Amino acid sequence: LTLIVAATAHDAALTAARIIQGIVNEADRRHVKATLGLATGKTPQAIYAELVRAHRDERISFRHVVTYNLDEYYPISPRDPLSYRTYMHRHLFAQVDLPPESAHVLDGSVPPAFADEACQFFDRWIDADGGLDLQLLGIGRNGHIGFNEPEPHRSVAEFAALPSRKVTLDVVTRADAAADFGGNLDAVPKYALTVGPRVILAARRIVMVALGSSKARIVARALTEDPTTEVPASLLQLPEVAPRVTWILDPDAASLLP
Ligand code: F6R
Repeated sequence: LTLIVAATAHDAALTAARIIQGIVNEADRRHVKATLGLATGKTPQAIYAELVRAHRDERISFRHVVTYNLDEYYPISPRDPLSYRTYMHRHLFAQVDLPPESAHVLDGSVPPAFADEACQFFDRWIDADGGLDLQLLGIGRNGHIGFNEPEPHRSVAEFAALPSRKVTLDVVTRADAAADFGGNLDAVPKYALTVGPRVILAARRIVMVALGSSKARIVARALTEDPTTEVPASLLQLPEVAPRVTWILDPDAASLLP
């Protein structure tokens, strides 16, 4: 496991963007596919802004990139301004030369009877693309990765093998999302579709970015407690996963580390 504490939140974003750019440039140079697992939320915004800038100013090209987003609210229309599909369109997809057919986001508008099936297809497509070259992650205040919320009744091995699926959002997650939904908790979807730990933890490189003092407590738990399904991000410490993981923090997020 590699731990980087950047001087500022902006430097943390630049550090993550450089890692992603390295993979994108390599794919472009060798004309091979690069598969990226992407996150939404506040944390990656400056990372995407830097990738867009590099595309504009340094001509880095996304033509060989294939993306799979981690999660989507459920139910939600892909065209909803608050959907993660819309977020990705606004922050990245519409601003770089990523082929539209290469950008995958779970569809929050599939009928309930097909929600899990849609997730299973997502897993199959990722597997068929050879797995993820890089998974970008943020951490929820409850330690979630993607929308894999704490599930203390499961063993670590069972949790680590979970497929992509429909999940019920944790109260903490919905409370944190309420601001985006006009401060109205009732307007926050109760469910989500999420890529499962099986695919996330198998990525050839995992970059976890956490910024700000609101993340300090959970970052300290995820990095210091034994892997536990009470803190899903602690599974990044598993011996078969840790060598592929880079944590990038700002000083506030790192402030409670021993
Ligand atoms: C988003 C996602 C979530 C967020 C996490 C942190 O696609 O998978 O796990 O990364 O909730 O969100 P922010 O960055 O808004 O603090």
